[in-house]
Amino acid sequence: MSDSNERGYTAAHRILEGKSAVFAVLVTVAILIGGIVEIVPLFSSTLGPEHLAGVTPYSPLEVAGRDIYIREGCYLCHSQMIRPLRAEVMRYGEWTRAGEYAYDHPFLLGSRRLGPDLQRVGGKYPDAWHYEHMRDPRSTSPGSVMPTYAWLHTATYDPADIQASMRALQKVGVPYSDAEIAGAPAAAQTEAEAIVGRLASQNVTAEPSREIIALIAYLQRLGMDGRAALAAQKPAEAP
Ligand code: HEC
Repeated sequence: MSDSNERGYTAAHRILEGKSAVFAVLVTVAILIGGIVEIVPLFSSTLGPEHLAGVTPYSPLEVAGRDIYIREGCYLCHSQMIRPLRAEVMRYGEWTRAGEYAYDHPFLLGSRRLGPDLQRVGGKYPDAWHYEHMRDPRSTSPGSVMPTYAWLHTATYDPADIQASMRALQKVGVPYSDAEIAGAPAAAQTEAEAIVGRLASQNVTAEPSREIIALIAYLQRLGMDGRAALAAQKPAEAP
């Protein structure tokens, strides 16, 4: 830009800045355009569950575990979003697609990573690892700064709370049927007993009614649907 051009531009800007009402309107228009450009793509079909066929709503015990995850503020240290960057994909797995959050209300993307991303932690460790890690993170991960959550091993979850959460999720569009909600306590019990069985085979004795069992159900599920759906969509493509 030549000198005179630059002076003209500066002068025009000065005049505009002097007219505060006009300036405010123009700024608002600029922000609105920016907002529309960011938001409109989110309403396209890439957000819907059809984008990732195979992503299913959380099971009753996973709903209980997710509520515990929220209550304990795990999202303050852990993100659940793998960015499409080589280092992230190598460390955490396939990057996250929007459709994978179809049934996440609220989203638990997180904004800080004091600990690793958990979006695909499901299946990474045996159940017994999570059981011990939550009781004392230092026992499985020497030097870890993660707090202990030992009370999860004695506190019990309330099946009525699971039903209340499922009803709330149903209201915001998660396709739970009334029969599924009515049967949630029994379904959660069956799921919990399966985890307790797996723990027993790993030499850990646990009660199915404990919060830690629900949390393990949730953690072991994270990213699994998405991983399976993505594997079916595009086999073995390098990041
Ligand atoms: C103060 C921050 C902090 C909080 C809060 C926190 N964590 Fe962690 N977490 C960490 C750190 C640091 C690590 C890595 C070291 C380790 O394995 O303990 C970690 C590791 C993990 C891992 C293993 C991840 C992997 O891929 O190896 C899981 C699972 C986990 N945390 C779950 C949770 C859950 C569930 C909660 C809430 C009940 C929670 N964390 C709360 C900091 C935190």
